[in-house]
Amino acid sequence: MADHAAVLNRLSEDLLADVAKDRTFDAALRYADVLPSLFIAHVLGLPGPLVVDFVRETAEIGRTFDRGCSPRYYARMETLIIDQRLPFLSIVSERRKKPDDSAISRMILLADASYPLSDVDIANHVMFLIMAASENTAALIGNTIAAVVEAGLVDALVDAEPPILRAAVEETLRYAPPVRQMWRIAQTDLTLGGARISRGERLLLLTDAASRDPAVYPDPDRFDPWRSNRRGFGFGLGRHYCLGAELALLEAETALRVILQRLPRRVSDLPFEWHDRQTLRRALHLPLILSPQKGLAP
Ligand code: HEM
Repeated sequence: MADHAAVLNRLSEDLLADVAKDRTFDAALRYADVLPSLFIAHVLGLPGPLVVDFVRETAEIGRTFDRGCSPRYYARMETLIIDQRLPFLSIVSERRKKPDDSAISRMILLADASYPLSDVDIANHVMFLIMAASENTAALIGNTIAAVVEAGLVDALVDAEPPILRAAVEETLRYAPPVRQMWRIAQTDLTLGGARISRGERLLLLTDAASRDPAVYPDPDRFDPWRSNRRGFGFGLGRHYCLGAELALLEAETALRVILQRLPRRVSDLPFEWHDRQTLRRALHLPLILSPQKGLAP
């Protein structure tokens, strides 16, 4: 994690390095959306621009988690993913021929030792990991920045100790979680909150609503990093609990700390805008004014 923290710090600072001139900055498009792609590229040993482009090109695939997508939409997304697989496939076959110390070479070696997978399987797995690691994390970073700015907490957090920045990210997972709902299929008949549910029924869990339950969270609509109970459902629960939770928290905490050094302020006539999605809460545009450096108000 120590190496990851240093890499994330450098990537975050680089993304803000040339912002001083124009000053109005879209923290969603140019920061939150890009950082997780560059970071997972580093973790997997892939070229950053390849992953950034892949994530942009496949951004609409996440919509398949929403209700009401037509079969034609699914078919279009399938074609898209097959087209996008080509460069990953050639990297995987290259690494199979000439292994290096990258995560992809390690995946091939591990698979060969236990359950051999084809190059297509490995390329699919790499693409799945990139997608799991990028869009949700981009959303968490953007949602955290938006929540802090909208709650007027920039000054309160700018010199705060790391635990409170981590708390701000955790509070975002409760107050504005990227993943708003999850599907489950009942494995047995059960009664839940007075409702009878039969085995095999599909359940839509509105975790977003649960994390604003006033019986559990006092003043639930207030973004409050200092609240004692911040435990939400942002990374899921149970056996499918997010495998990348710790990485995602580190990414969002670093991104928040680095942008706070530039005193992000809301540009009043340019509103924050959000993607139109049922499952994912994610900023589309976060126009902000950044100061050249900490302490110099814009
Ligand atoms: C803020 C960022 C993230 C959020 C909000 C998030 C959210 C989630 C949620 C809610 C689930 C559970 C889905 C379910 O139970 O139906 C999940 C699973 C998963 N996440 Fe994440 N995730 C994030 C980042 C990451 C990262 C960075 C990685 C990888 C590096 C990752 C890899 C996975 C994987 C592999 C699973 C499937 C686990 C399983 O089914 O056993 N996630 N994530």
